[in-house]
Amino acid sequence: MANLIIYYSRKGENYVNGRVENLAKGNTEIVAEFIQKAVGGDLFEIETVKEYSADYYECIDDAKAELRAGARPELKKYLDGIDGYDNIFVCGPCWWGTFPMAVFTQLEKLYWSGKKVMAIMTHEGSGLGSCERDLKKICVGASFGKGLAVHGADAAKSEKNVALWAKKSV
Ligand SMILES: Cc1cc2nc3c(=O)[nH]c(=O)nc-3n(C[C@H](O)[C@H](O)[C@H](O)COP(=O)(O)O)c2cc1C
Repeated sequence: MANLIIYYSRKGENYVNGRVENLAKGNTEIVAEFIQKAVGGDLFEIETVKEYSADYYECIDDAKAELRAGARPELKKYLDGIDGYDNIFVCGPCWWGTFPMAVFTQLEKLYWSGKKVMAIMTHEGSGLGSCERDLKKICVGASFGKGLAVHGADAAKSEKNVALWAKKSV
């Protein structure tokens, strides 16, 4: 069974346990790599052409405007297809209750029939938000495994939990 781990993650300033801190590596990137280590598979990073500000407050304003507009930001590269994969992990931070719009830019371009999809979201309190509901609207024809919410501030300590979940998911 082939696994694909699609993720979006943003370095720079972020909200960590009530304070703004500068992250050298994004929380979701950390957990995406834990999934790969646990079950194997290919990693695909979603990167936007227009970079979000490293400044936390500017980024949250931009992200809110994009959510309200239902924006689909352009990506630096796209997955052409997912034919060779059985299990797809969709990994992203919680941005205003769901995945960043750029995640949906990519997901909407894929054909989902027969795939198994799992959501993992890193967050600072919102858990999985509406991401599973939102995925179900886009990944038509897929089946869905149980999602996992990881507290972003604890991402580096989440390996055991993430590995256990990933192994049960495939
Ligand atoms: C634009 C933006 C919006 C956010 N919105 C939420 C939110 O609605 N709920 C929440 O729990 N955390 C929110 N956060 C915190 C992030 O979800 C959390 O820090 C996450 O682990 C960041 O992952 P990353 O480093 O992979 O980008 C937000 C952060 C940003 C930058």
